[in-house]
Amino acid sequence: MTLSTSPDTTTTTDVISHPSLESSEKSFASIDERQRKPKAFSEGHDGDLSSQFKGWMGLDEKSVDGALEFQSFQPKKWEETDVDIKITHCGLCGSDLHVLRSGWVDQTPILPRIFDKFQGPTEYPCCVGHEIVGEVVRVGTKVKKDIKVGDRLGVGPVVYISYNGIFPNGCKSNGGFANYCRVPGDSTILIPHGLSSSAAAPMLCAGITAFVPLSEHGAGPGKRVGIIGIGGLGHFAVLFARALKCDQVVAISRRQSKKSDALKLGADLYVATADEPDWAVKYAHSLDLIISTVSSSDMPLNDYLNLLRTKGRFCQIGMPDDPLPPLEVAGLIERGISIGFNDIGTIKEVEEMLQFAVKEDIKPWIETRRMKDVNEVLKEMGEGKMRYRYVLVNED
Ligand SMILES: NC(=O)c1ccc[n+]([C@@H]2O[C@H](COP(=O)([O-])OP(=O)(O)OC[C@H]3O[C@@H](n4cnc5c(N)ncnc54)[C@H](OP(=O)(O)O)[C@@H]3O)[C@@H](O)[C@H]2O)c1
Ligand SMILES: [Zn+2]
Repeated sequence: MTLSTSPDTTTTTDVISHPSLESSEKSFASIDERQRKPKAFSEGHDGDLSSQFKGWMGLDEKSVDGALEFQSFQPKKWEETDVDIKITHCGLCGSDLHVLRSGWVDQTPILPRIFDKFQGPTEYPCCVGHEIVGEVVRVGTKVKKDIKVGDRLGVGPVVYISYNGIFPNGCKSNGGFANYCRVPGDSTILIPHGLSSSAAAPMLCAGITAFVPLSEHGAGPGKRVGIIGIGGLGHFAVLFARALKCDQVVAISRRQSKKSDALKLGADLYVATADEPDWAVKYAHSLDLIISTVSSSDMPLNDYLNLLRTKGRFCQIGMPDDPLPPLEVAGLIERGISIGFNDIGTIKEVEEMLQFAVKEDIKPWIETRRMKDVNEVLKEMGEGKMRYRYVLVNED
C-alpha cells in the first residue's frame, strides 16, 4: 500500500488508496462542476425511491465481527423537508463498532430524546455509518437550504443517523453502509470543491469531533497539546493541532508502531505508553491540553492526567463501552485540572472546519475500500489495522 494522490480528480488531498479501488473509484469532477439540475423528483411525480433502499445490516451483536448482511430496509417516511442521497462514500467510525456490538448497552439511560439514543441496547437490524457523502437525487419542496439534485452533500452524525436514532415522525434512522439515505435536508452539508469525497467523509465525524475541543480550548500558539489514541479521531486531532500552530503537538499511543506516521502527520514528540516504562514521570506536568480519543476504558487515566500542567484541561472524546477508571483527585485538585467531554459539532462548525481543512490543505490518511467488502474491513478495524480511516466506496 502506498501513499498516493487521491483518484478523486477534484482533490488536493493525499489518501492511501486500496489497490482494489485504484481503477474503479469514481471521479466527482462531473458532480462538482455539473450544472445544478432542477428538483427532478419533486416535480411531476412523487419519485418515491423507498423500495430501492438497501444496506449492510447488523442483525445481532456478532455482526461487528464482520457478519453484516446486505438487505432491503424501509427508510424514514418521506417528508417534504427531506432529501434522498445516493451514497458514494461512507467512513467507518469507532462508534460503528460500539453500536454493532451493542457496546453502550450498560450506559445509564437518561430521558428519552428524539434523534439520539446512545444508551441501551442496539435495536437490530441496524445499518450503521455516519460519515456519508453522496449525490442528491431528490429534494423535498420544504427544504430551506439551497440544495439541488446533483449536488454533492455530506451527512454526519449531527442527525444521529445510525445510533438507534428515531426521527420526530417516529421512523427509525439508518446509516450510510447503504446505497441511499434519506435525511432532513437542512441537516446536510455541502462539500466544498477543494475536498475529495473520500477526504471529506471522515471529516464529518472524526474530523469535527477532533476539531471542536481543540478550537474551543484554545489550541494554538503558546499551547502544548497531547493527543491520546492515534486512530481515526486521533490522527485528525494531530493534523488540526499542527495546523492551529500549537507550540508542541505530542502524539500518545500505546506502542511504538505508529511513531513514524505520527511524526509525518505533524507531531513533534511521540510517547508510547506500553513501550516506554518511564513515560508518566518523564513527561509529567508538560501539557496544557489533552484530547483523549481512546475507545476503551482500559487506560492509565491517572497517568494521562498527570501529564497536565497547572490549570490544564483533559477532554475525553472517545466513548468506551465501560466506565472510566476511578480518579485519584488530590493531585488534580492541587493543580486545578479540568476534565471535560465533547460531542461532535453543529452544522455551522462542520462547515467552518471543512473550510479550514481546505485553507490549511489538511490531508487525512485514508484507505478507500469497496462498500461490498465491508465485512472484511470491519474485521481489520477490530484488529486495529486502520491507518487511519477506512472509507467505503459504492462502485455503481
Ligand atoms: N465524542 C464524540 O462525539 C465521538 C465521535 C466519534 C467517535 N467517538 C468515539 O471515539 C472513539 C475513537 O473513535 P475512532 O473512530 O477514532 O476509533 P479508532 O480509529 O479505533 O481509534 C481508537 C484509538 O484508541 C486507542 N486505544 C486505546 N486503548 C485501546 C483498546 N484497548 N482497544 C482499542 N483501541 C484502543 C488506539 O490508539 P493507539 O493504538 O494509538 O493506542 C486506537 O487507535 C470511539 O470510542 C468512538 O465511539 C466519539
Ligand atoms: Zn463517528
